[in-house]
Amino acid sequence: MAQPFKDHPYLTGHHQPMRFEADAPDLIVHGELPDDLHGVFYRVGGEPLYDPPEGYHWFDGDGMVYGFFFEDGRVSMRNKWVRTEKFEAELKAGRRLFGVFGNPMESDPSVQGMRYNTGNTNIVLHGGKLLALMEGAPPIEMDPRSLSTREYLDYGGTVTGPFSAHPKVDQFNGEMLSFGWMINGPMGKPEIRYDIIDKHGQIVRNVQFDAPYMSMVHTFMVTENWVIFPFNPLETNIQRFMQGGPMNAWVRGRSSKLAMLPRNGDTDKIRWLEMPGRHMFHELNAWEEDGKLIADVAAANGTALFPNEDGSMNTHKDTALELRRWTIDLTGATDEVKEETLNDRDIQFPRPDDRFMTRKTRHGYANCNLHSTDGRVDGMDAAIHFDTTTGKEDLYHFGDGAACGELIFAPRVGATDEADGYALTLVHPANSHHTELAIFQARDIAAGPIARVFIPYRIPSGFHCNYYTADGPLGAPVFEQAA
Ligand SMILES: [Fe+2]
Repeated sequence: MAQPFKDHPYLTGHHQPMRFEADAPDLIVHGELPDDLHGVFYRVGGEPLYDPPEGYHWFDGDGMVYGFFFEDGRVSMRNKWVRTEKFEAELKAGRRLFGVFGNPMESDPSVQGMRYNTGNTNIVLHGGKLLALMEGAPPIEMDPRSLSTREYLDYGGTVTGPFSAHPKVDQFNGEMLSFGWMINGPMGKPEIRYDIIDKHGQIVRNVQFDAPYMSMVHTFMVTENWVIFPFNPLETNIQRFMQGGPMNAWVRGRSSKLAMLPRNGDTDKIRWLEMPGRHMFHELNAWEEDGKLIADVAAANGTALFPNEDGSMNTHKDTALELRRWTIDLTGATDEVKEETLNDRDIQFPRPDDRFMTRKTRHGYANCNLHSTDGRVDGMDAAIHFDTTTGKEDLYHFGDGAACGELIFAPRVGATDEADGYALTLVHPANSHHTELAIFQARDIAAGPIARVFIPYRIPSGFHCNYYTADGPLGAPVFEQAA
C-alpha cells in the first residue's frame, strides 16, 4: 500500500505528484486554436511513485512524460511514466527502494548494483526515436505516440553510462551532439565523453577528455564549428561526503573553466579559457559571428540549488539567473571571456527557436519570476520573450501565485523565419486545481495567450519541454506513425 508523501516543498503545492496516467482526446480550448499549429508538445518532470524515507530533492522524482498532440484543429493529451528498472522494481516492492539520487548507503539491498535512473529531465526526438533523458544514465526510448517505454539505447555499445539530458540536435544537418560526465563513476577519474550521433541515430564520433574536476556539467554549447563545455564550481565530491560534508556543493572562490573543442576535431585541440566562477545550467543559444563565438546563457555568480562546501546555503535572491552574453575571441588574440548582462530578469530555462540552434538568433524565450521570489518553490509567475538585437523584452504575468513551466517556441506550419509561430507553456493558475497549456503569438507575449488548452486537473510542475512540428524532419515520423 502506498503511504502518504511527507510534507516537503517539492512534494506539495504545484509540485505535488498526481501519480496517474491519462489519455484524453480533444481537450477543451478557450480562445482560438491556431489551425497552423500541427505538431507535438512533450514535457517531462519528476513525479515520484513512492516517497523516499530519507529526504527528497527536486531532481529525484520518477520521470513522467506528457504529450500534447496538435492535429486537425484539435489537441489531445496522454501521459505515461518512464518505466525504468528503478520504477519497475519499486512498483513491484510497493515502496521506495533507492536512496535519494540513488545513494547506495540509503538504498535497499535488493537494488544494490541496479542502475539508478529516473528519465525525468528532458524528452527529445531524434532519428525518429523519443528519448527520455536523465544525465546519469543512457537514453530510454519511448514510443513517440503511445509514450510506452521501449528500451535503453547504447549507440552500438558506446554509451553505457551517463548521457546528457541536454543533447543538441542541429537541424541544419540532423546531428545530435551529446556528452556524459562522471563516466567513470563518482570515485573515478573526472572525464567527459563527447558523442556525435548522425541523423539516422548512428554514432559517428565518440571521444573522451580529462575534466579539471568532477564539475556537474548539465549542458554544453554547440555552434557550427565548435563545442564548448562549461566546468563550473558546482562539484560532486565523494571524499567530502565521506567526511560528513555535502556530496554536491558550490565551491566558493573557484573559477569557471570553458573547454572549447573543434566540433569534429580531436581532443588534443582543446582550448581552455577561464572566467570568474559562474553557475550556468542552461543556455539560450551559441553561434559564431565575425571572428567571435557568442553564447547567450542563463548565469549567476553562485547557486542555491545545492549547499556551499561548508553546508551553508545561498539564497535564491542572491543567485538568481539572468540572461548574459559570453563572447570569446576565435582569433586567439585574447583568452578573456567577455561577459555582459543582456537582461536582468530572474529567469529559469532560456530557449531559442530550436530550428536555428547553433546559428545566430535574436529571439529568446524563458519562464521568469516577476513577483514570485523563488520559482522552484513558489512557481515562476511570468513568461518572457527577449529580442537580443534591440534589447527589448516582451513579458506576460500570469498573476501572483501562478506557476508556469519552460516557455518554448513552436513554429507554425510552413514557417521559415525565426520566431514565426507560437510560444507555449504549461501553467497552474493560482488557487486552482487545473492546468492550462497557454499558447501565445511568439512575437507578442505581452498580448496574453491567444488560446488556453484546459486540463481539468493539476499537472505537477516539471522540467524540460520540446515541440516538434509535423512538417519538420524531427516531428514528421510521429505523425506518419499516426496516419
Ligand atoms: Fe536542464
